[in-house]
Amino acid sequence: MAGWSLSAAAGLATGALRSALLGAPWLLTAVLLTATATTAAAQEVVPYTVRGDGIDTPLTSTPGDPARGRAIAASRQQGLCLLCHGAPMPEALPEARFQGNLAPDLAGVGARYTEAQLRLRVVEARRVHPGSFMPSFHSTANLSRVGGAWQGKPILTAQQVEDVVAWLLTLR
Ligand code: HEC
Repeated sequence: MAGWSLSAAAGLATGALRSALLGAPWLLTAVLLTATATTAAAQEVVPYTVRGDGIDTPLTSTPGDPARGRAIAASRQQGLCLLCHGAPMPEALPEARFQGNLAPDLAGVGARYTEAQLRLRVVEARRVHPGSFMPSFHSTANLSRVGGAWQGKPILTAQQVEDVVAWLLTLR
Protein backbone atom coordinates (compact mmCIF):
# COMPACT_ATOMS: atom_id res chain seq x y z
CA MET A 1 0.00 0.00 0.00
CA ALA A 2 2.80 2.41 0.88
CA GLY A 3 3.68 2.90 -2.78
CA TRP A 4 0.44 4.24 -3.98
CA SER A 5 -0.64 6.01 -0.82
CA LEU A 6 2.61 7.89 -1.11
CA SER A 7 1.99 8.82 -4.71
CA ALA A 8 -1.61 9.74 -3.89
CA ALA A 9 -0.26 11.96 -1.15
CA ALA A 10 2.23 13.44 -3.58
CA GLY A 11 -0.63 14.10 -6.02
CA LEU A 12 -2.61 15.87 -3.34
CA ALA A 13 0.41 17.88 -2.31
CA THR A 14 1.04 18.94 -5.90
CA GLY A 15 -2.64 19.91 -6.26
CA ALA A 16 -2.48 21.95 -3.08
CA LEU A 17 0.71 23.62 -4.27
CA ARG A 18 -0.93 24.46 -7.57
CA SER A 19 -3.90 26.15 -5.88
CA ALA A 20 -1.57 27.96 -3.52
CA LEU A 21 0.47 29.12 -6.47
CA LEU A 22 -2.60 30.52 -8.22
CA GLY A 23 -3.33 32.60 -5.11
CA ALA A 24 0.18 33.67 -4.28
CA PRO A 25 2.52 33.10 -7.21
CA TRP A 26 5.52 34.78 -5.63
CA LEU A 27 5.31 32.63 -2.52
CA LEU A 28 5.70 29.11 -3.77
CA THR A 29 7.23 29.44 -7.20
CA ALA A 30 10.52 27.83 -6.25
CA VAL A 31 8.86 24.93 -4.45
CA LEU A 32 6.48 24.25 -7.32
CA LEU A 33 9.21 24.44 -9.92
CA THR A 34 11.18 21.86 -7.97
CA ALA A 35 8.11 19.59 -7.63
CA THR A 36 7.26 19.88 -11.32
CA ALA A 37 10.82 19.18 -12.38
CA THR A 38 10.89 16.04 -10.23
CA THR A 39 7.58 14.81 -11.65
CA ALA A 40 8.61 15.47 -15.24
CA ALA A 41 11.92 13.66 -14.79
CA ALA A 42 10.17 10.70 -13.17
CA GLN A 43 7.94 10.26 -16.21
CA GLU A 44 10.71 9.90 -18.74
CA VAL A 45 11.91 6.60 -20.08
CA VAL A 46 15.39 5.88 -18.79
CA PRO A 47 17.62 4.53 -21.60
CA TYR A 48 18.38 0.84 -21.20
CA THR A 49 20.41 -1.77 -23.04
CA VAL A 50 18.99 -5.19 -23.82
CA ARG A 51 21.58 -7.98 -23.83
CA GLY A 52 20.33 -11.45 -24.69
CA ASP A 53 16.88 -11.63 -23.11
CA GLY A 54 17.62 -9.30 -20.21
CA ILE A 55 18.57 -5.83 -19.03
CA ASP A 56 21.62 -6.27 -16.80
CA THR A 57 21.97 -2.74 -15.47
CA PRO A 58 19.40 -1.43 -12.97
CA LEU A 59 17.50 1.59 -14.32
CA THR A 60 18.24 3.60 -11.16
CA SER A 61 21.03 3.85 -8.63
CA THR A 62 18.60 3.37 -5.73
CA PRO A 63 18.04 -0.37 -5.18
CA GLY A 64 14.46 -1.60 -5.61
CA ASP A 65 12.28 -2.00 -2.53
CA PRO A 66 10.33 -5.30 -2.61
CA ALA A 67 7.55 -4.04 -0.28
CA ARG A 68 6.93 -1.03 -2.50
CA GLY A 69 7.12 -3.29 -5.55
CA ARG A 70 4.45 -5.59 -4.14
CA ALA A 71 2.16 -2.61 -3.50
CA ILE A 72 2.69 -1.38 -7.07
CA ALA A 73 1.97 -4.86 -8.45
CA ALA A 74 -1.25 -5.16 -6.45
CA SER A 75 -2.42 -1.62 -7.16
CA ARG A 76 -5.32 -1.25 -9.58
CA GLN A 77 -3.97 2.19 -10.50
CA GLN A 78 -0.33 1.34 -11.14
CA GLY A 79 0.99 -2.11 -11.92
CA LEU A 80 -2.29 -3.88 -12.61
CA CYS A 81 -0.26 -7.11 -12.63
CA LEU A 82 -3.06 -9.01 -10.87
CA LEU A 83 -5.46 -8.20 -13.67
CA CYS A 84 -3.71 -10.95 -15.64
CA HIS A 85 -1.44 -12.77 -13.17
CA GLY A 86 -1.95 -14.64 -9.95
CA ALA A 87 0.74 -13.98 -7.33
CA PRO A 88 1.41 -14.82 -3.70
CA MET A 89 0.10 -11.82 -1.73
CA PRO A 90 -0.78 -11.27 1.92
CA GLU A 91 -4.42 -12.23 2.57
CA ALA A 92 -5.06 -8.92 4.27
CA LEU A 93 -4.32 -6.90 1.15
CA PRO A 94 -7.81 -6.08 -0.23
CA GLU A 95 -6.51 -5.29 -3.72
CA ALA A 96 -4.96 -8.74 -3.97
CA ARG A 97 -8.19 -10.61 -3.33
CA PHE A 98 -9.11 -11.02 -6.99
CA GLN A 99 -6.37 -12.27 -9.24
CA GLY A 100 -6.28 -12.92 -12.94
CA ASN A 101 -5.53 -16.17 -14.75
CA LEU A 102 -4.80 -14.87 -18.24
CA ALA A 103 -1.05 -15.16 -17.68
CA PRO A 104 1.35 -17.48 -15.84
CA ASP A 105 1.17 -17.34 -12.03
CA LEU A 106 4.06 -15.28 -10.72
CA ALA A 107 4.78 -17.73 -7.88
CA GLY A 108 8.35 -18.93 -8.32
CA VAL A 109 9.38 -16.39 -11.00
CA GLY A 110 12.28 -15.27 -8.81
CA ALA A 111 13.73 -18.76 -9.16
CA ARG A 112 12.87 -19.23 -12.84
CA TYR A 113 14.40 -15.99 -14.10
CA THR A 114 17.42 -13.84 -13.38
CA GLU A 115 17.08 -10.24 -12.23
CA ALA A 116 18.08 -9.08 -15.74
CA GLN A 117 15.41 -11.26 -17.38
CA LEU A 118 12.72 -10.03 -15.00
CA ARG A 119 13.72 -6.40 -15.65
CA LEU A 120 13.29 -6.82 -19.41
CA ARG A 121 9.93 -8.59 -18.94
CA VAL A 122 8.60 -5.68 -16.91
CA VAL A 123 10.18 -2.95 -19.06
CA GLU A 124 9.30 -4.31 -22.49
CA ALA A 125 7.60 -7.71 -22.53
CA ARG A 126 7.22 -7.60 -26.31
CA ARG A 127 10.99 -7.88 -26.73
CA VAL A 128 10.65 -11.38 -25.32
CA HIS A 129 7.32 -12.39 -26.88
CA PRO A 130 6.54 -10.11 -29.84
CA GLY A 131 2.81 -10.90 -29.78
CA SER A 132 2.46 -10.45 -26.02
CA PHE A 133 -0.45 -8.49 -24.65
CA MET A 134 1.47 -7.78 -21.47
CA PRO A 135 1.96 -4.00 -21.37
CA SER A 136 5.46 -2.60 -21.81
CA PHE A 137 5.73 -0.84 -18.48
CA HIS A 138 8.77 1.31 -19.15
CA SER A 139 9.03 1.71 -22.88
CA THR A 140 7.48 4.04 -25.37
CA ALA A 141 8.71 2.05 -28.36
CA ASN A 142 6.46 0.08 -30.71
CA LEU A 143 3.20 0.90 -28.97
CA SER A 144 -0.11 1.37 -30.72
CA ARG A 145 -3.27 3.18 -29.68
CA VAL A 146 -1.74 5.13 -26.80
CA GLY A 147 -4.16 7.66 -25.27
CA GLY A 148 -3.16 11.31 -25.62
CA ALA A 149 -2.36 11.81 -21.94
CA TRP A 150 0.06 8.86 -21.94
CA GLN A 151 1.99 9.54 -25.13
CA GLY A 152 5.71 9.46 -24.55
CA LYS A 153 5.30 8.49 -20.90
CA PRO A 154 6.06 5.11 -19.38
CA ILE A 155 3.40 3.40 -17.20
CA LEU A 156 5.88 2.85 -14.38
CA THR A 157 8.80 5.11 -13.52
CA ALA A 158 12.30 3.65 -13.55
CA GLN A 159 12.26 3.42 -9.75
CA GLN A 160 8.88 1.67 -9.76
CA VAL A 161 10.27 -0.88 -12.25
CA GLU A 162 13.20 -1.54 -9.90
CA ASP A 163 10.78 -1.95 -6.97
CA VAL A 164 8.64 -4.43 -8.91
CA VAL A 165 11.73 -6.40 -10.01
CA ALA A 166 12.95 -6.52 -6.39
CA TRP A 167 9.55 -7.94 -5.38
CA LEU A 168 9.54 -10.51 -8.22
CA LEU A 169 12.94 -11.73 -7.04
CA THR A 170 11.44 -12.55 -3.64
CA LEU A 171 8.96 -14.98 -5.31
CA ARG A 172 11.05 -18.13 -5.12
C1 HEC B 1 -2.73 -7.53 -19.71
C2 HEC B 1 -2.17 -8.69 -19.06
C3 HEC B 1 -0.89 -8.58 -18.28
C4 HEC B 1 -0.56 -7.65 -17.32
C5 HEC B 1 -1.36 -6.47 -16.83
C6 HEC B 1 0.75 -8.04 -16.83
N1 HEC B 1 1.19 -9.15 -17.47
FE1 HEC B 1 2.91 -10.16 -17.11
N2 HEC B 1 2.50 -11.48 -18.59
C7 HEC B 1 1.33 -11.49 -19.34
C8 HEC B 1 1.37 -12.62 -20.27
C9 HEC B 1 0.29 -12.99 -21.27
C10 HEC B 1 2.60 -13.30 -20.04
C11 HEC B 1 3.11 -14.57 -20.75
C12 HEC B 1 4.25 -14.28 -21.68
C13 HEC B 1 3.92 -13.17 -22.63
O1 HEC B 1 2.97 -13.27 -23.41
O2 HEC B 1 4.64 -12.14 -22.60
C14 HEC B 1 3.27 -12.54 -18.98
C15 HEC B 1 4.51 -12.89 -18.46
C16 HEC B 1 5.08 -12.31 -17.35
C17 HEC B 1 6.29 -12.79 -16.71
C18 HEC B 1 7.04 -14.06 -17.08
C19 HEC B 1 6.29 -15.16 -16.34
C20 HEC B 1 6.68 -16.57 -16.67
O3 HEC B 1 6.43 -17.45 -15.81
O4 HEC B 1 7.19 -16.83 -17.76
C21 HEC B 1 6.53 -11.94 -15.66
C22 HEC B 1 7.69 -12.03 -14.67
C23 HEC B 1 5.50 -10.94 -15.66
N3 HEC B 1 4.64 -11.19 -16.70
C24 HEC B 1 5.41 -9.92 -14.74
C25 HEC B 1 4.40 -8.97 -14.74
C26 HEC B 1 4.35 -7.87 -13.80
C27 HEC B 1 5.34 -7.65 -12.68
C28 HEC B 1 3.24 -7.15 -14.12
C29 HEC B 1 2.77 -5.85 -13.49
C30 HEC B 1 3.77 -4.79 -13.35
C31 HEC B 1 2.59 -7.79 -15.24
N4 HEC B 1 3.32 -8.89 -15.60
C32 HEC B 1 1.43 -7.35 -15.85
C33 HEC B 1 0.27 -10.60 -19.22
C34 HEC B 1 0.22 -9.52 -18.36
